[in-house]
Amino acid sequence: MRSKNLMVTGGCGFIGTNFICYLLEKPGFSGRIINVDKLTYAGNPENLEGVEERYSGRYVFQKADICDAEAIKAIFTEYQVDAICHFAAESHVDRSIKNPESFIHSNIVGTFNLLEIARAGGSRFELFHHISTDEVYGSLGPEGLFTEETPYRPNSPYSASKAASDHLVRAYHETFGLPTTISNCSNNYGPYQFPEKLIPLIIMNAVEWKPLPVYGDGKNVRDWLYVTDHCEAIWTIMQAGERGGTYNIGGDSEMENIAIVEMICDMLDGIIPPPDGRSRRDLITFVTDRPGHDRRYAIDFSKLNKSLGWRPQESFQTGLRKTIQWYLDHRVWCERIETGEYRQWLKEHYGQG
Ligand code: NAD
Ligand code: DAU
Repeated sequence: MRSKNLMVTGGCGFIGTNFICYLLEKPGFSGRIINVDKLTYAGNPENLEGVEERYSGRYVFQKADICDAEAIKAIFTEYQVDAICHFAAESHVDRSIKNPESFIHSNIVGTFNLLEIARAGGSRFELFHHISTDEVYGSLGPEGLFTEETPYRPNSPYSASKAASDHLVRAYHETFGLPTTISNCSNNYGPYQFPEKLIPLIIMNAVEWKPLPVYGDGKNVRDWLYVTDHCEAIWTIMQAGERGGTYNIGGDSEMENIAIVEMICDMLDGIIPPPDGRSRRDLITFVTDRPGHDRRYAIDFSKLNKSLGWRPQESFQTGLRKTIQWYLDHRVWCERIETGEYRQWLKEHYGQG
């Protein structure tokens, strides 16, 4: 993997952006990254502004839809792609409940196209790494952890579409011998996360003294992983993971949603003390629950730990503090997303509104 032409799909999204920045700085990686992204509402090329110049010859951006097989084939051939790290997807559960169609196209058909193109690459193609989610396993009760052996029971259109794509990847390994790896990861947080997801949404609303929406009773549990730890895990698996294998990735940080929202309020009150002695906790507003809302996710990542030595480095406390600081330091980034201003930038650069 170290000196290869690596196609990264969805590199202008949250985790893809962090992964590209991580890998280009990684000692030992001297290859080239070809970032293929359709630039949906969640894809923001401003995240990677200046990267092409900074890493001359080692980074290119190609605007393309993974559902467009001809376009992807042309990029694959032009850049002599050796491996694919596949992030591109519709990623937000609430959107999949309102409008599932794009999830079926991008997450299932898009993955199928990439697999077919990789398969046509023949024996020179080295690895298809598929980024997936712990949501494919469904919901846990108060006890237990998801392992790689847990049966799939996806509950939202989003997780069902990711489950379908995981099965396709597995099938391409079993049937065609395509060299693949899959990782199923828990909830990520950190810089560049689109503010429709819990942590950035709450940070941005709390800064602006807007209501903080908490679904249901707020006691749903997620396992949180700082995004750089996820990037390290992906790269570890890509280099040394068993071909055809699946690896769970988790943060060892189970938290109830309400506890996270309270932590953000308290940390922000400490950084920007409210003028009149109020607390940002007063902004917490319980709202109607998400339909089919999974109660608890928790990950057993012992396979990845024992076989490849990976474990998360960031604690939730330190990771959350860094994340809050990042959003405070990047008010222009936040405002441009809030006002849709970066859409204008897209129009100017890529002819897209
Ligand atoms: P994101 O929504 O922030 O970014 C997705 C990116 O994919 C965007 O840049 C978007 O423009 C691009 N994209 C979407 N459809 C495309 C298409 N048809 N063709 C080309 N590009 C397309 O998502 P994220 O949070 O960075 O998640 C990345 C991947 O990681 C997804 O596959 C997601 O399922 C998985 N994942 C996310 C988390 C999490 O907590 N965010 C956890 C586990 C797994
Ligand atoms: O577990 C991995 C998954 O984590 C990824 O596969 C998904 O791509 C990613 O979006 C994330 O899914 P969640 O649905 O867990 O993330 P979200 O940030 O949307 O919600 C986290 C929890 O917070 C969830 O229990 C719902 C709740 N929530 C969310 C929002 C947006 C609220 O209570 N209020 C909110 O406003």
